[in-house]
Amino acid sequence: MVSINDNYLKLPESYLFSDIKKRVTAFKELHPDARVISLGIGDVTRPIASAVIDALHEAVNEMGHADTFRGYGPEQGYQFLQEKILIHDFHDRGVEIETDEIFISDGAKSDLGNIGDILSVDNKVAVTDPVYPVYVDTNVMGGRAGSLEQDGQHWNRLIYLPCTAENDFIPELPSERPDIIYLCYPNNPTGTTLSRSELKKWVDYALENESLILFDAAYEAFIHDENIPHSIYEIEGAKETAIEFRSFSKTAGFTGLRCGYTIVPKELKLYNSSAEKVNANKLWNRRQTTKFNGVSYIVQRAAEAIYSPIGQTQIRASIEYYMRNARLLKTALQNRGLQIYGGDNAPYIWVKTPNGLSSWKFFDRLLHECHIVGTPGIGFGPSGEGYLRLTAFGRYEDTVESISRIQNWNL
Ligand code: MLT
Repeated sequence: MVSINDNYLKLPESYLFSDIKKRVTAFKELHPDARVISLGIGDVTRPIASAVIDALHEAVNEMGHADTFRGYGPEQGYQFLQEKILIHDFHDRGVEIETDEIFISDGAKSDLGNIGDILSVDNKVAVTDPVYPVYVDTNVMGGRAGSLEQDGQHWNRLIYLPCTAENDFIPELPSERPDIIYLCYPNNPTGTTLSRSELKKWVDYALENESLILFDAAYEAFIHDENIPHSIYEIEGAKETAIEFRSFSKTAGFTGLRCGYTIVPKELKLYNSSAEKVNANKLWNRRQTTKFNGVSYIVQRAAEAIYSPIGQTQIRASIEYYMRNARLLKTALQNRGLQIYGGDNAPYIWVKTPNGLSSWKFFDRLLHECHIVGTPGIGFGPSGEGYLRLTAFGRYEDTVESISRIQNWNL
């Protein structure tokens, strides 16, 4: 008899976005003529920048010639890409990182899930609430979340750090010490941010309590306010206490191409069961070299092209395109008297549901009455109840059309 990892059986039947997809498909079957606009999953709609496409073509051609063909690449990623990341994402911001601290991967979601491989099952985990479901679900799979409480919302071994309008979406430091703390800023799903001084509080807390911060910076490219840090390593001491995850998905439209990277600093303080310090960078390297054969050469060449001057201009134009959607959506919803958060330094708008409607009820009304798909806040955790997320990643025309439907909506 072969036993499975029973933790998987504790999970809700499907992942949030698969669940929403099912509901939308059912709606479309019943209403085949409805033109449904998706402002649900944060998937990009702009085509890949031409500088990136050119680099892809060139790399594809190289693969077709005996003298430029490449087989397995380094599992950690090619140096040509690591060096660009080092200079543009870190050195230019005054952050000292070394190339062997950068691990190129197929995206932040994979690394955020896989990082649990090198961390003990006994660690106590804290998550901000609402939260990107991957952090919670992968800890359920890994056996760190305990079991689901009666309310069907809280896992009994997780520490929840509520972020709601009442605390301005700024999580309070935990009263019970966690070993691992997930932070995502700019935040998915609320679209809110942490100032430098707020983030410093977390780094100081983690240093003092010997906790590990898993910092998801997938949306850093959407920051334009200078007081908001792009990397946790802009805060002194963070290299001893944090791993940072980055993604090209939203920054450069790579949701389909797949590429991101993770920084595991050599100074990071992690310990074995005898309380001896271990080299986390080496550990992650060991994990990656065993379980991962690296991102394809052509995709890494594509990612490298993002950092060229023309590549930068082109990806900035797409980011501006999405942020214009965010501004338009935000203003239109506010004009309808709704309470809106986020959307200034992030591509997500967090809407307070009107008249005390539940997240799912508001989701259903938006879908049935406006033919617009959002994401119910409760899907991101208990403190998401009473909210709904809209993404700014839609096409401009669809965003404008959504706005006109919302303006004429009998709310
Ligand atoms: C989201 O909608 O939250 C994101 O698209 C999910 C992801 O990046 O995996």
